[in-house]
Amino acid sequence: MLILGIETSCDETAAAIVEDGRTILSSMVSSQVPLHEKFGGVVPEIACRAHGELIIPVIDSALEEAGVAGEDLCGIAVTAGPGLIGALLIGVSTAKAMAWGLDLPILAIDHLDAHIYANNLVHEVEYPFTTLVASGGHTALYLSESPTRHRLLGSTTDDAAGEAFDKVAALLGLGYPGGPIIDALAEKGRADAVNFPRTMLAEGSLDFSFSGLKTAVLYHVKGQNAAGRPQGPPDEAEKIDVAASFQAAVVDVLTGKLFLAAAQEGVKRIAISGGVAANSALRSRIDARAEREGFTFYVPPRELCTDNAAVVAGLAWHGLSRGESSGLTFDAYARRGA
Ligand code: KG4
Ligand code: ZN
Repeated sequence: MLILGIETSCDETAAAIVEDGRTILSSMVSSQVPLHEKFGGVVPEIACRAHGELIIPVIDSALEEAGVAGEDLCGIAVTAGPGLIGALLIGVSTAKAMAWGLDLPILAIDHLDAHIYANNLVHEVEYPFTTLVASGGHTALYLSESPTRHRLLGSTTDDAAGEAFDKVAALLGLGYPGGPIIDALAEKGRADAVNFPRTMLAEGSLDFSFSGLKTAVLYHVKGQNAAGRPQGPPDEAEKIDVAASFQAAVVDVLTGKLFLAAAQEGVKRIAISGGVAANSALRSRIDARAEREGFTFYVPPRELCTDNAAVVAGLAWHGLSRGESSGLTFDAYARRGA
C-alpha cells in the first residue's frame, strides 16, 4: 500500500512515499533555512510563500524518486497541525486537491504523533514505551500505547527545548537554527564551565521549564554574573563554553525527566523524537544511561528526527489500511485542541 505524505507545518516543505507504513521509497525535504536565516527565525509569511512555490516540485520529485505515479497511490496523508496555520494550509489544500483529483482517501495527521512514529520506521517497537518529543515548538513526555495512542505525562510550561536552543544561539550571535550549531560547537567547549540552572519544577513533576535557563544565559552573556556584577561580553572561547554549558543543562533535564517518566510508569522502554532528538550529546547521554540501567532505547536516525514527510505517510498507513478517511472538509489547526 503506497502512501504519499505531505508536511508543511513550519519551514520544511516535505513529501515522501512510504510503503505499508514501513518502507521509505522516497523522502524529500526542502529546507527554507536560507530564506529565514537573516531574520534569526521563521517568518510565517515567507514560509507560506515558499511552501506555495515548492510544494508541487517537492511532491513531483518524491514520486519520481520512488518511481511511482499518482495512480499507483492508495492514499494521501498530510500534517493538519499543530504548526504555522498558513504553512499548514498550503499542505492541506494541496493534499485535498490531489485526493479529489485522483479519487483517493486522505488522512489528516497530527504533527506530534508523526514525530513519535519516526522510531516505527526503523525499529520493531514494542509497546508501551515512554516517549520524549522535543522540537522547536513542543517538549512533552508521553506513554505510547500504540502508533496512534499517546497519553500525555508532562509538557513544557514555557519555551520548547528547541526554541531555547534557537534563542540562546541567537543571543550568542551564532546563527539560525540554533540546535545544530550549538550541537557542533559544544563538542569543543567545556560543559562544566558555567553552572546553569537545571529547572526540575516540583518533586516528581514531568513538566518542563526552559525560560529560567534562557534568562540565566542572557544575564551571563550580557555581563552579569549571579551576584549582578558586570563581567563583560564573552569572547569566542567563552561563547563555546557557554554553548556547551547550556546544552549540558538541557540534556540533564531532558534525560532526567525521560527516565523519571519511565520509572513512574514502570516501563523499561524509552524513545526520543523531534528535532532536538538529533542532538549528539542527548543521544549519547540517554544511550549510555539506558545501557547501564537495562532499558531498551528507541532513537531514530537524525533525518527522521527533524521535520519530514516519511513519518506522516508511515503513520497514516495504520488508519488508511483500516479504511479510515478524514474526508475533504477537515481543517488545519495551529494548536492541539483548538
Ligand atoms: O522537529 P523540528 O524539525 O521542527 C519542529 O517541529 O519544531 O525541530 C526543529 C528544532 C529547532 O529548534 C532546532 O534548533 C532543533 O529542533 N534541532 C536541534 C538539533 N537539530 C535540530 N536541537 C539540538 N541539537 C540538534 N542537533
Ligand atoms: Zn516538527
